Amino acid sequence: MKVLGIDIGGSAIKGAPVDAATGRLLAGRFKIETPLLLSPGEMADATAMIAAHFRWRGPVGIGFPGVIHGGTILTSANLDKKFVGCDGIRLFEKATGLRVALTNDAAAAGLAEMRFGAGRDFGGKALMLTLGTGVGSVLFFRGALFPCELGHLQMDGRDAEKRVAASVKHRKDLSWKRWGERLNRYLGTLEGILWPELIVIGGGISAKHDKFFKYLKTRARVVPAEFLNEAGIVGAALWAERERRG
Ligand code: BGC
Repeated sequence: MKVLGIDIGGSAIKGAPVDAATGRLLAGRFKIETPLLLSPGEMADATAMIAAHFRWRGPVGIGFPGVIHGGTILTSANLDKKFVGCDGIRLFEKATGLRVALTNDAAAAGLAEMRFGAGRDFGGKALMLTLGTGVGSVLFFRGALFPCELGHLQMDGRDAEKRVAASVKHRKDLSWKRWGERLNRYLGTLEGILWPELIVIGGGISAKHDKFFKYLKTRARVVPAEFLNEAGIVGAALWAERERRG
C-alpha cells in the first residue's frame, strides 16, 4: 500500500509518499517551514499543498504533536491552541479531499522505528523519545503501542520538555555535557517508573548521538533512531495502513 505520510512539527510540516510494505520513501520529501504559528485552517491548507505537490489521490497519514483521541486533537503544547478540541480528521480531510488517518507524531515515529528501524525484531518493552521542539514519547510492548506525554512530566519545577528538548539546547546554547547530563537525569526518572529494556532516541538531534550518548548512564540500552527526520513521515503512513487494516 502506498500512503502519503505527513509529519506536522513545531517548526515545519513535511511529507512524502511512502511504501508501507517497506517503509521506503517513494519520492524526496516536501517541506514547508512554519516559523510562525499556523491556525488550524492554515495548517490544513499546508497539508493540501503537500498532497498537491505529489498530485496525491490515495490515503494520507498525518502525525500531529498533541494528544489524539479518535480523530480529535486534545492538546497542542507547541502549536496554535485553536487546535484543541478540533476534529482533526475532518479538518485535514476537508482541506485535502482525501482519506486521512491521524495519530500523535511521536507514536508515528516510534511505529516506523519499531517496524523498520532501530527497534525492528525487538519484542520487549521499548520507549521511544523524540527530542525536537518538544519531547514526544511512546511505549511499545510485544507489538502494542501506547502513546504517552512524558515530555510534560515535571522536572526542576517545569515541563521536562522545557529542560531537555533539542530546541532548548539550541535556544540556551547548552553544551553537549550540560544538556546530556540533564537528559540523563530525565531518563533516570523515566526508567524508575517504566523500566524499558530499550530506549530509542529520535528527532534530528539523534544524528549527533556520539556527542551526548556518553552522558547517558541508563540501565536500558539506548540507541539512536535510524530514520532520523523521516521517522514521522514513514510512521504516519504506517499508521494509516494499520488503521485501514483495522
Ligand atoms: C506534545 C506531544 C508531542 C511532542 C513532540 C509535546 O509537547 O504534547 O504530543 O508528541 O511534543 O512533538
